[in-house]
Amino acid sequence: MCTGISRRTALKGVAGVAVAAGFAPVRSATGQIAPVKVGFLLPYSGTYAALGNNITEAFKLYVEERGGKLGGRPVEYVAVDDESDPGKAADNTNKLVTRDKVDVIVGTVHSGVQLGVSKVARDTNSLLIIPNAGVNAATGSLCASGIFRSSFSNWQPGYPMGRVMVERGHKRAVTLTWKYAGGEEILGGFKEGYEKAGGKVVEELYLPFPNTEFQALLTKIAEIKPDAVFVFFAGGGAVKFVKDYHAAGLRKSIPLYSTGFLTDGTLKAQGEAAEGLLTTLHYGDGLDTPKDNAFRTAFEARGKGEADVYAVQGYDAAQMLAAGLDAVKGDVGARADLVKGIERATIDSPRGPFTVGKNHNPIQDIYLREVKNGKNIVVGVAAKALMDPGRGCKLA
Ligand code: PHB
Repeated sequence: MCTGISRRTALKGVAGVAVAAGFAPVRSATGQIAPVKVGFLLPYSGTYAALGNNITEAFKLYVEERGGKLGGRPVEYVAVDDESDPGKAADNTNKLVTRDKVDVIVGTVHSGVQLGVSKVARDTNSLLIIPNAGVNAATGSLCASGIFRSSFSNWQPGYPMGRVMVERGHKRAVTLTWKYAGGEEILGGFKEGYEKAGGKVVEELYLPFPNTEFQALLTKIAEIKPDAVFVFFAGGGAVKFVKDYHAAGLRKSIPLYSTGFLTDGTLKAQGEAAEGLLTTLHYGDGLDTPKDNAFRTAFEARGKGEADVYAVQGYDAAQMLAAGLDAVKGDVGARADLVKGIERATIDSPRGPFTVGKNHNPIQDIYLREVKNGKNIVVGVAAKALMDPGRGCKLA
């Protein structure tokens, strides 16, 4: 609810800009409505580059669909390549906040980088929308009123696969991933669901991020002979892993499972090697809803490739920002009402409509998908309206 003029707006009023009762966007000296400044902090190089690019493209697509304005204000962008390097996260975030003075940070993809970004955002009370990185703490112990996620928590997509695999008769599994927060936590969610359903993880294998020398680990898996393997890889590393697993001849003897990150945005490059893979994710192909069809057509018309889960998350980050800005007519200084605008919104996502939980993470269906003819076809719902537990988050 609009309970009055925010301090920032009131000060602008003192400075001579007419302020009607309620919210008012910032105006420049010439009376023009000033743009909202969005700071992208995303990987534009390395194994996650394609993810960062699709998030950016789809965010811009939504803004263009709104005539280039959110909350009545034009939108201006700055972009920083975070290089998926946790060591540079704090500096890069501080630059966006202090030097570029962005109104909102949209970032990032890599969970280890996200920890640094979220800490700075919390300390500086910045508005932050996370368009991918699932690190549980971002909507757990590091949650804050100005921090939202348009994607998933690492706990969410792997947890439901545990029951699916046990139901398919796989009681002993080996897990494999990159050794960093993203991989470890996605496997953690899977392990929780798997062991709860009666399965046992018999070995947890790791390699450093973003290493793709998989041979020794594939040999080890062949020696252990588990009922199945569950992995987390994404982007360029996922392409190589799926091809290597197939080339090693393991697909028939030891079935491979994963979250949908293994096969989203990567199927063209993986080709035959990915056919038949079962994955769980909050998005998939063949949803065939008017919203998803329109989104995909519009995204592809930009000529930068096909839509995938990352594009959906970027588009929805823009929709969340729009919900907040529309609620305050572009007055970013009216922070409490802007936050309420996002908290109360139902986001009309291509994945299906969603709201956020108290910890500001999407409550969403997790689909079961199967790779058929180069598409991640949705074959079922592995978990309905799954809510992240938000462990350690004290937002009430
Ligand atoms: C993560 O680090 O949280 C992460 C990165 C890429 C994905 C999914 C999760 O596709």
